[in-house]
Amino acid sequence: MNLRSLLEEAQKNRKAIGHFNISDWILLKAVFASARELKVPVIVGASEGERAFLGVAQIAVLVKSLREEHDVPIFLNADHTHSLDSAIAAAKAGFDSIVFDLSALPFEENVKQTKQAVEVLKSINPMILVEGEIGNIGTGSEIHESMPELSKVLTAPEEAKQYVESTGVDILAPAVGNSHGMLQAMVQGDAKKRLDIKRIREIKSVSGSLLTLHGGSGTEDHDLLEAVAAGINIVHINTELRVAWRHGLEDAFAKQPREIVPYKLLPIAEESVKQVVLARLRLFNQVRG
Ligand code: G3H
Ligand code: ZN
Repeated sequence: MNLRSLLEEAQKNRKAIGHFNISDWILLKAVFASARELKVPVIVGASEGERAFLGVAQIAVLVKSLREEHDVPIFLNADHTHSLDSAIAAAKAGFDSIVFDLSALPFEENVKQTKQAVEVLKSINPMILVEGEIGNIGTGSEIHESMPELSKVLTAPEEAKQYVESTGVDILAPAVGNSHGMLQAMVQGDAKKRLDIKRIREIKSVSGSLLTLHGGSGTEDHDLLEAVAAGINIVHINTELRVAWRHGLEDAFAKQPREIVPYKLLPIAEESVKQVVLARLRLFNQVRG
């Protein structure tokens, strides 16, 4: 099954596909093992920074080998891609989708360049899905001192419709109260991000587009469920995985202070990430347990 059909099927069943960013093999193993255990599809994302570290061709080959060896629908997304050259490199390497992110540009310029990117990328691979972004959802899947004031830059439904129609993107990433990264209070579970569900519903109804929610880490579970019911098809999670990765490594070093064998230490980090991915996938796919 290709990614578009899976998204459409998930939409019918009021489920969303989980998208998890990775920057090493531990994260990829944890994401893949979770999807395999729950028997649900999953998207692995690598932003420009993550791709620079992993290698564009190398991560594409790794994901392809997992897809071919096991019966798990796993897809690869070139996340937050800011230049056409970098998008082309990912498309040529075999990525299934590209987030072409010119949201920092004025609306008209974003439309013009995204439309051009859609044409170029589809000429490389007609099946590739291109996602466009409008509005401000902050930057950086990191622990921030404070969150940006985003309420004034939420996506207007009419603007979403105009953007989707003018660019030809397959998927839209709107600004609906979501933002990248977490506060320390969110890491501790003392604060949560909240979403504008009514706005999601309006954007969906007016644009008719597949929708991605970025900045999923630290979001109230109930809001995520309502967002999916309102029309969100993909949810991106990154910071929560990075926190779990670091905590897992710290735990491994603390438990085995003299150990130097990577494959005896790293499974602890993998398990720590896996617990986060499992919880998120259960929520997005309404799997009990
Ligand atoms: O594209 C990546 C995501 O939007 C992740 O956001 O770090 O807040 O989960 P997050
Ligand atoms: Zn994002």
